[in-house]
Amino acid sequence: MSDSAKPARVPRSMAIYARAKELIPGATQLISRRPTRVAMGVSPVYAVRASGSRFWDVDGFEYIDWASGIGAILLGYCDPVVDEAVKQQISHGTMYSVNHELEIELAEELCRSIPCAEMVRYAKCGGEACAIAVRIARGTTGRDKILFCGYHGWHDWYLAANLAQEASLNSHLFPGIEPIGVPQSLSGTALPFAYGDLEGLARLLEENHGETAAIIMEPLRSELPPEGYLAGVAELARKHGVVLIFDEVSSGLRFSTGGVQQYVGVVPDMAVFAKSISNGYPMAAVVGKREVMEPAARMFISSTYWSDTIGLRAALTTLREVRRRNVPAQLWQFGARLKSGLNAVAIEVGANEAKAAVRCVGVDVHPHLEFLIDEPRLRSQIATLYIQEMAKRGCHGFAAFYLNAAQGEADLAQTLDAARETFTVIRDCLAAGNVEQKLECDIQQDAFRRLVR
Ligand SMILES: Cc1ncc(COP(=O)(O)O)c(C=O)c1O
Repeated sequence: MSDSAKPARVPRSMAIYARAKELIPGATQLISRRPTRVAMGVSPVYAVRASGSRFWDVDGFEYIDWASGIGAILLGYCDPVVDEAVKQQISHGTMYSVNHELEIELAEELCRSIPCAEMVRYAKCGGEACAIAVRIARGTTGRDKILFCGYHGWHDWYLAANLAQEASLNSHLFPGIEPIGVPQSLSGTALPFAYGDLEGLARLLEENHGETAAIIMEPLRSELPPEGYLAGVAELARKHGVVLIFDEVSSGLRFSTGGVQQYVGVVPDMAVFAKSISNGYPMAAVVGKREVMEPAARMFISSTYWSDTIGLRAALTTLREVRRRNVPAQLWQFGARLKSGLNAVAIEVGANEAKAAVRCVGVDVHPHLEFLIDEPRLRSQIATLYIQEMAKRGCHGFAAFYLNAAQGEADLAQTLDAARETFTVIRDCLAAGNVEQKLECDIQQDAFRRLVR
């Protein structure tokens, strides 16, 4: 199905997107905001405003945002407490030629909440904070190599993984990323390891013994780790004198007020937080044990906007509100109801049977849908059909659910009604073999190579 075959449901979004393609290489700043990642022509591309659990697009449609600002929104859009604190801060000026005590207040708050936090540095985005963490680990150990698992942003240290072998990032980011613009001399400095495979990691550490500065990994995303896995990683890191960094940018404070490390009971040497720690205002923190962080005083890690008080105030207020409202407990409960509701709906319409198998799986706090279809192209078509049909029913997102504390009963009821109709469409299309005809857009694209076309 080509997007020219049917008039777009969101013509204003598509017209703005056409202008963007002329002026902005790649059209969007974040890959996950590209219309090719959803149902292009049907899904919203440009928003005008948001409030609570919802946003409104330039075509006048209202959506429940199941992507929660791609993970950055934790309390809900325009949270009155955070926004009021930010407005007060703005009225005092947002940055100065000198520092603000908020830097220390936020550091104290982070050190109270996050198990590994004894010292803190700041940044503005997740990828930047990961780059700082990697710099500190390299500087502290005097070694170059980084072993990684998961997604850690766009910086050279990470994309260097694809210099030696283009497939290195396939299972961590997108298949087929060409490390264009990344210096060849970084080849061999970033080595991937497979999640859950302790023996593989042990081998990699042996092979690179004395040369490895850090293991950086997402401790988990939407599935719990195998029993003892993260403790095993920590043990290996200790054995080889390697800095263990948990990248908690995506999971944020959804699992517990002390992050995933508190939830799983494994304390890394350092951790990176961004996105949800400040409810959508740009802010990131690199936290860690004193012995690993302290040498950073001698490293050149410096930027004007890291002292900006909007991010500092937003983060401090968000952390306090997350604890005061016990947001993680609320999300665990709500996610469990969403997940069981979706599974009940799938069973009710018979969409969980035979080749039409749809089911909702993953940790309650970050559930996702599985389409149990063997044939990859058909599976992609069904995933796109899901996004398309849910968008038409006012639900924006991917086949995964990023929760925030503003989502409530009305959102749950509307989403389950939308899913009932969507799963019925999926069931009927699979039975009739006419999925392609039902698609009003091209297939949602995951492959980076295809995204940049
Ligand atoms: C685990 C993880 N690390 C790093 C990043 C990069 O963060 P940012 O997009 O703020 O640079 C992301 C973004 O999704 C992420 O999920």
